[in-house]
Amino acid sequence: MMQVLRAAVEAAVWAPSVHNTQPWSFCVSGAEVRLSADPERRLRVTDPDGRQMLISCGAALFNLRIALRALGHRPVVRLLPDPDSPLLLATVRAGEPAPPDELAGLLYGEIERRRTHRSGFTALPIADELVDELVAAAGNEGARLIPVRADPMLRVLAALTGAAQEIQATDRRYALEMARWARPPGSARRDGVPADSYPTARRRGVPYHFAERDYGRGEGWGGGDEEPICAGTGLVVLLTTEGDTREDWLIAGQALQRVLLQASAYGVSAAFHGQALEMPDLRAFIRRHVCGGAHPQLLMRLGFALDEASSVRRPVAEVLREP
Ligand SMILES: Cc1cc2nc3c(=O)[nH]c(=O)nc-3n(C[C@H](O)[C@H](O)[C@H](O)COP(=O)(O)O)c2cc1C
Repeated sequence: MMQVLRAAVEAAVWAPSVHNTQPWSFCVSGAEVRLSADPERRLRVTDPDGRQMLISCGAALFNLRIALRALGHRPVVRLLPDPDSPLLLATVRAGEPAPPDELAGLLYGEIERRRTHRSGFTALPIADELVDELVAAAGNEGARLIPVRADPMLRVLAALTGAAQEIQATDRRYALEMARWARPPGSARRDGVPADSYPTARRRGVPYHFAERDYGRGEGWGGGDEEPICAGTGLVVLLTTEGDTREDWLIAGQALQRVLLQASAYGVSAAFHGQALEMPDLRAFIRRHVCGGAHPQLLMRLGFALDEASSVRRPVAEVLREP
């Protein structure tokens, strides 16, 4: 049992997290993994209420669930089980043995392969059937994935992302926080955004340009000099929830990871653009005018990428407490 739970934690740490903060810790006790948030790793400026921290932990929770299922146990989850321990986000118990599940096996196999993409996509469109499948995947987790296809809305979202990026780039508090999590080339750190996970040269996306975060901070960092070949926008999607509570953020994180892993199984990658949703007034605007009143949790582009991004994680021993 211990081996299964340990393997589940090894899978959990490969979840995406904002700025690769990996804001989680795990504790194994009996047949149960306890997932907690690590408040030291919350982004105080970018994420004051911990929304993105909990989305990141929700993605890790999905990995725990899918790993247990793929390894032959039915996962039994309790979300926010103790109101007196707000940092304890979930307990996941390895329940009764379950027969092999093909989808769980497939998604489990994608966990370490999936990477965040940070430039344009090829012109290859995502098949409608796959889009429907991803929409259903988010729905299964209690969230909603909204493909944005209307030209005015795409222009609005691209413009708001650009505006938020400009504001954050010129605000010292954001810049300092970013500097803490942008890893210089060659750094041995096992967290933060590695310099070889984005291109050196930035290219304008076509037909819509969604500003990337400036992890290279004008230092010329980035993965190589070759001009990226692709500049396509890809399919723009918003992930939304009905409410905006801590539970909703955990739901959003689980839905995010199900969508990302399912997309990855078809060779589709995701680029995140969180800037506008980090500015409360812009987030409220997007909620009202683009999401029909639902709460936007993530803005992403999906598509086929040519380059292979890299990523890093802290060793499991650093985040796992065992009895
Ligand atoms: C809630 C959330 C918000 C994120 N926002 C951004 C973003 O705005 N820009 C970006 O390039 N990546 C963003 N990411 C992706 C992370 O930077 C990425 O998951 C992390 O660096 C680990 O890399 P990997 O996903 O390739 O394993 C976000 C991830 C999460 C979970």
